[in-house]
Amino acid sequence: MRSGTSRRRHRAARPLALAFALVLMGALYAALSPATQVAADTGMSAQVAEGKALFQVTCSSCHGLNGEGTSQGPSLVGVGAAAVEFQMATNRMPMAKPGAQAPRKVVQYTAQEINNIAEYVQTLGPGPAIPKSEQYDYSGLSDDDIARGGELFRTNCSACHQAAGNGGALPNGKYAPALQGVEPLHIYEAIRTGPQQMPVFSAGAIPDEDVASIIGYLKGMEEQPSAGFSLGGLGPVTEGFAAWVLGIGGLALVATWIASRGARAK
Ligand code: HEC
Ligand code: HEC
Repeated sequence: MRSGTSRRRHRAARPLALAFALVLMGALYAALSPATQVAADTGMSAQVAEGKALFQVTCSSCHGLNGEGTSQGPSLVGVGAAAVEFQMATNRMPMAKPGAQAPRKVVQYTAQEINNIAEYVQTLGPGPAIPKSEQYDYSGLSDDDIARGGELFRTNCSACHQAAGNGGALPNGKYAPALQGVEPLHIYEAIRTGPQQMPVFSAGAIPDEDVASIIGYLKGMEEQPSAGFSLGGLGPVTEGFAAWVLGIGGLALVATWIASRGARAK
């Protein structure tokens, strides 16, 4: 049996002991959690191990436990981190069920989770990496660069996405989506990874500077959505209006003048 004083001390120590136990549990968990264990066993980084664990829960039903593919989904060997970032961040993946096309949905995964899976898929086979922002920065482009972006877009992209990037129908009920509001990162990744019917454009076909020009062209069009409604597009209309006002107004003045002279002549 303990004395009253020791029991009091014991009670005061309880929160401390609890905090200590929590810290200990945290440390033990960190030391023993599957991620670090796998990392220790195979030399896999903790990030890749976490990505793999989430992949096996969320994606393997269609893409296979090791990304080898199943009848429900293609192999992801060699598609690269950029394809995963694109598919998950635009919320095409995980697909709810196999279908003709994976439309955009509301994003459900954190950037960290997406990066973890992307790094894991990158280890399956080399593929395009997630680009750094310098690779698709379009802020310093000249008017010539943007004009070149427009040419490249008309040559390589408008067959499916239309000249103004409004998107268009493809055979078998599929479609190339409208490109307004797509983040520069995702434009870059779509070009490099070629989702669905879209071809892959490698750095050999369209180097990074040209990708930036295409992005600059698309973003420039967003600021001036349709020539008819923008200020620039109003030019000819304004001129026409001015000509009309001056022309008709002038005729009216002349007519009034003649009429008043006639009236005076009477
Ligand atoms: C219900 C089945 C299903 C699930 C679940 C699924 N996918 Fe897919 N995935 C597909 C199909 C089918 C395609 C083929 C392309 C398409 O239809 O868009 C595909 C395509 C992809 C591609 C493009 C491959 C390429 O060649 O560019 C990536 C990357 C991808 N999936 C990643 C994932 C990831 C990561 C997850 C889990 C977060 C996931 N998928 C979950 C069915 C699925
Ligand atoms: C042969 C037709 C075709 C060509 C050519 C093509 N695309 Fe695509 N593109 C598609 C299809 C189809 C999709 C939709 C894929 C999906 O939903 O998985 C797409 C998707 C995209 C997306 C993603 C849009 C979004 O909503 O996330 C971007 C960005 C894009 N394309 C840009 C381009 C650019 C830039 C070019 C030229 C360098 C180009 N595409 C050439 C067919 C094409």
